[in-house]
Amino acid sequence: MKIIGTGSAVPTMTVSNDDLSKFLDTNDAWITTRTGIKTRHLLSTEDLYDLAVDASIKAIKASGLRPDQIDFLLVSNVANRHITPGLSCIVQKRIGLSCAGLDINVACAGFVNALMLADGMMKAGRAKNILILCAEEPTKYCNWHERDCSVLFGDGAGAVVLTEGNAFKDVNLTMISDRDVLYYERGMETTPFESTYVKGQPLVMKGKELFRTAVSESAKDIQTILNRAHLTADDINWFMLHQANKRIIEGIRNIVGGPEEKYPTVIEKYGNTSSASIPIMLDEMMRDNKIHQGDKIVMSAFGAGFVSAACWWEWEF
Ligand code: UT7
Repeated sequence: MKIIGTGSAVPTMTVSNDDLSKFLDTNDAWITTRTGIKTRHLLSTEDLYDLAVDASIKAIKASGLRPDQIDFLLVSNVANRHITPGLSCIVQKRIGLSCAGLDINVACAGFVNALMLADGMMKAGRAKNILILCAEEPTKYCNWHERDCSVLFGDGAGAVVLTEGNAFKDVNLTMISDRDVLYYERGMETTPFESTYVKGQPLVMKGKELFRTAVSESAKDIQTILNRAHLTADDINWFMLHQANKRIIEGIRNIVGGPEEKYPTVIEKYGNTSSASIPIMLDEMMRDNKIHQGDKIVMSAFGAGFVSAACWWEWEF
């Protein structure tokens, strides 16, 4: 398969590190040096569904296809205010689609996992044109009275349209069951029969442990796909990594190799937008004409689970 259209959308409200330091015990110097984040976009007047629709319509327009030519909608979303129906059902009509779809939740690694599914569907002949939408509002599950998680995240949506082609080469998925490194627990209704009711609580993160695992597992995933393709870091034009922390990206680069210029970032503007981070960055790079025919591109993402996933492309337009 190949990508023939990209789109993205972020909320209109921009929040700087200085804005956060007005009500949290934090400061611009700490956030900048420890994470690379300067600003993030937070939902205020619009909602996640608006972003999801906006990013999707832009991607379909860029692809040159009509909405009725999309055969399947794959959505990556960790949480939104509906537990059911899925986000794909909620936005399908507003995007102008009539095809079927489904939601996946593989946390920040959702985009690369969705690519794996799209590749399988195309190879099985089940769909020719697929829209992948990653729409995330992680700021809605942080504790805004604490500085540990709330400074890291931003809201946003990124979408791509895929069709048949030979650009997508390989993918490697990893899952290490460890809920405790990063989780958000929602409260559910109580029943008269339940003796173990768990009240919901905001996102809990073991930052240092997650940092170390993210660096080592992402580097392993990347080396696995490079080895399978008999490639080295020198052969790769772009390493598009999940935007969780600039220091994580540097840590991965120290193991995998290659100059800093091959590791683009948008974290400084958007913070960590979970599974939307790679498609948002890809859309910006496409619009800036940074991606060329034949470019070898590695994508790698990691997050709650612990899950990680990497893939590589030889770009075709
Ligand atoms: O999408 C995937 C999920 N997320 C991740 O992969 C995140 C992975 N983890 C990280 O990115 C980093 O661990 C963090 C950015 C979360 C934290 O960075 P760190 O360098 O590991 O800092 P730390 O937690 O060791 O904290 C260092 C110090 C502590 O103070 P003391 O104990 O040294 O006095 C913290 O209390 O920094 C303090 N601190 C802060 N100070 C100002 C922690 N958070 C903040 C803050 N502002 N927001």
